[in-house]
Amino acid sequence: MAQTWTPNSWRQKPIQQVPDYPDLAVLDSVEARLAKYPPLVFAGEARRLKSALANVAEGRGFLLQGGDCAESFAEHGADTIRDFFRAFLQMAVVLTFGAQQPVVKVGRIAGQFAKPRSSGVEKQGDMTLPSYRGDIINGIEFTEEARVPNPERQVMAYRQSAATLNLLRAFAMGGYANLENVHQWMLGFVKDSPQAERYRKLADRISETMDFMKAIGITAENHPSLRETDFFTSHEALLLGYEQALTRVDSTSGDWYATSGHMIWIGDRTRQPDHAHIEYCRGIKNPLGLKCGPSLTADGLLELIDILNPANEAGRLTLICRFGHDKVAEHLPRLIRAVEREGKKVVWSCDPMHGNTITLNNYKTRPFERILSEVESFFQIHRAEGSHPGGIHIEMTGNDVTECTGGARALSGDDLADRYHTHCDPRLNADQALELAFLLAERMKGGRDEKKMVVNG
Ligand code: PEP
Ligand code: CO
Repeated sequence: MAQTWTPNSWRQKPIQQVPDYPDLAVLDSVEARLAKYPPLVFAGEARRLKSALANVAEGRGFLLQGGDCAESFAEHGADTIRDFFRAFLQMAVVLTFGAQQPVVKVGRIAGQFAKPRSSGVEKQGDMTLPSYRGDIINGIEFTEEARVPNPERQVMAYRQSAATLNLLRAFAMGGYANLENVHQWMLGFVKDSPQAERYRKLADRISETMDFMKAIGITAENHPSLRETDFFTSHEALLLGYEQALTRVDSTSGDWYATSGHMIWIGDRTRQPDHAHIEYCRGIKNPLGLKCGPSLTADGLLELIDILNPANEAGRLTLICRFGHDKVAEHLPRLIRAVEREGKKVVWSCDPMHGNTITLNNYKTRPFERILSEVESFFQIHRAEGSHPGGIHIEMTGNDVTECTGGARALSGDDLADRYHTHCDPRLNADQALELAFLLAERMKGGRDEKKMVVNG
C-alpha cells in the first residue's frame, strides 16, 4: 500500500456494490457539479470528533451512534428530524447521567443514503428487478423505471443532507439541547410508555442538580456545555463517486478530508483490503468506522488496521462489531486479543442490529431480546478481556414505528404491519431505544463500580 493516494486512486482498484448507471457521461457531469458545491462539514469538526473518540479509545467515555438504516427523500421533514434528535438526546442523557461518562454523539444522518445489498436483484412474484440501493441511487418503488440508477439523485441527497445538518446544528447549538429542557424531551408516545416513569425520575434528578449548580453560580447562561451539545454526523462511505466529489483539502493542515459527514464507515461487504473502499478511506483524515462481521479473521483485521491507521492514532478507527447474538462469543474475543496483543488503539463499538435480522410474516425484523442479548455479551466479553466496551451503533428512529419485535410493549409479529415504514432495515422505535439506553447505563455503571472496587480493594 505504499502507492500514492489521491481522491480518485480508488478508481484503479476492484470495487463491490457499484450501481449500473446507464449513462456515464451524465454521472460525470453530476460529480463535477458536486465537486464545486460547498462542503457539508469542516475539517476542524472532524478533528474535534476524532479527539473525543480518542478519549473513548483510552477508556474514558462512550460512543452513541445511531439513526436510520437509510434516510429517504419521502420522509424528509422537520418533525422527523426533531423526533429523532429528541429520542437520541434522551438516550444520551440516560447514558451520561446514569453511567457518569462523557457520551460522544454521532448520528447516522445527513448523508446515510446509499445501501449495500446482498443480491443485485429483487424478486416479487414473477418479476425480477434491480435491487433498491438507497434514495441517492434509485427509487424504492418496485417498477422498472424507479430502479434505474439516476445520478441526479446525488444532488438531491446532497441538498437534503445540507438542510438536515442545518436543523441539527440549530437544535444542538440554539437552545433545544439545553439541559434545562430535559423534561420537555419526553415524546408524546413515550410519555405513557413503560420507560416514562424511569425517564421522569432521572430528569427530576438532573433538574435538582441544575438547581443546585444555579445556586452556586453555574448556569446555562455562563456555561455553554449546559445549553449546547456536540452532535456529529456519519454514514457509510459506499458511493465513492459522491464521496470523491466532496473530498477537499483542509487549508489549515493541507490534509484531505471527506466533507460529506464527520465520520464515515466501511461496510461489512466492502472491506476487502486491496479494493476501492479501503483505498479511498485510507487517504482521508476523518475518524473512520469499520464494520466487523463473522467473516473477519484476526489477521484480516490487523491488516486493515495497518492500512487505515498506520500511525496508530487513537480516535481514528472505531471497530463496529456486528456478529449476531449467537455468534458474538465465538468471534469477538479473538479480535480483541489480536488488537490488544499488537497494542492497536481502537474504539470498540457494538452494532447489535445487523447480525440479528430475521424474517417474520414476510417482514424483515429484529427481536429486541436478541439485540439486548448481543449487547450484554459484548459488555461481558470486554470485561473478561480487560478491554473497554466503548460504544453502541444502532438503527433507530424517533417515530413510533413497529419494525423490531419485543421491548416493554411486547410488539409481536402481528404488530409489524401496523407502522412498518423503514426503507431498508428494521429500526428501534423511540421507546425501544430508551429501554436499550437504560440497560446500557446499568452495564456501564457496573463496569465502573467494578473498577472502583479494584482500586479501593
Ligand atoms: C448498515 O449499517 O446499514 C449496514 C449495511 O451494515 P453492514 O455493513 O454491517 O451489513
Ligand atoms: Co442497516
